[in-house]
Amino acid sequence: MKGLKIALDGPAGSGKSSVSRLVAKRLGYLNVDTGAMYRCVTLRAIWDGVDFEDPKALAKVAASCRIELQEDGRVILDGQDVTDEIRKPIIDSRISSIAENEEVRKILVAEQKRIGAQGGVVMEGRDIGTVVLPDAEIKFYLDAAPQERAKRRWKELGKRGVNVSLDEVKHEICLRDKKDLERSASPLKLAPDAIYLDTSNHTLNEVVEIVLAKIQGVVRTHEANKRPCL
Ligand code: DC
Repeated sequence: MKGLKIALDGPAGSGKSSVSRLVAKRLGYLNVDTGAMYRCVTLRAIWDGVDFEDPKALAKVAASCRIELQEDGRVILDGQDVTDEIRKPIIDSRISSIAENEEVRKILVAEQKRIGAQGGVVMEGRDIGTVVLPDAEIKFYLDAAPQERAKRRWKELGKRGVNVSLDEVKHEICLRDKKDLERSASPLKLAPDAIYLDTSNHTLNEVVEIVLAKIQGVVRTHEANKRPCL
């Protein structure tokens, strides 16, 4: 199954990062977490004391960041391992200024398109099926009830040693949902040709198997269409 472009979009806590990572591993594909790129730009802007009200300064930061997404999931920003740092609540609370900046998006989307062009990739984010890889052979939109998404995110933060209440996480997720859905630059939306999956009542492994089965189906259809008629 070499060479396909697989797009996975959805809101925070829908499970797309874990699903994307496991599906990519099973297929031997590259996994690209585009949210990590927006997170890196946010972290760099905080480190550099950049004014978050200054869109031009934020775009400059995006242009200068050297972001490396390693195969084992580690994220390197300007030579420094920031895998844990970029998942901290401070990043969640400031990232919307970065995500809604059109210049920042132009820079990051160009890089994502370059990575995806070769195929053999599972790319996850908010605008992958609509903007980054509109020609992806298969697109998924993962969703889950807000309460469930908040619970998942809260558990994940707990595992990382971040001590926040479930209510705080719920509040943060609602705010981020609203901003992701309502921003003018590439808002989160369901691509018309995406497969919608509600993961609320499924385990991670179940979702991975559903996604893999759908991919197999698309591959078989492609192959059948290529066969000459008898
Ligand atoms: O998937 P995540 O929670 O790590 O993403 C963090 C933020 O980055 C999210 O609130 C919106 C933004 N984002 C985006 O605007 N476009 C993407 N393709 C990926 C993430």
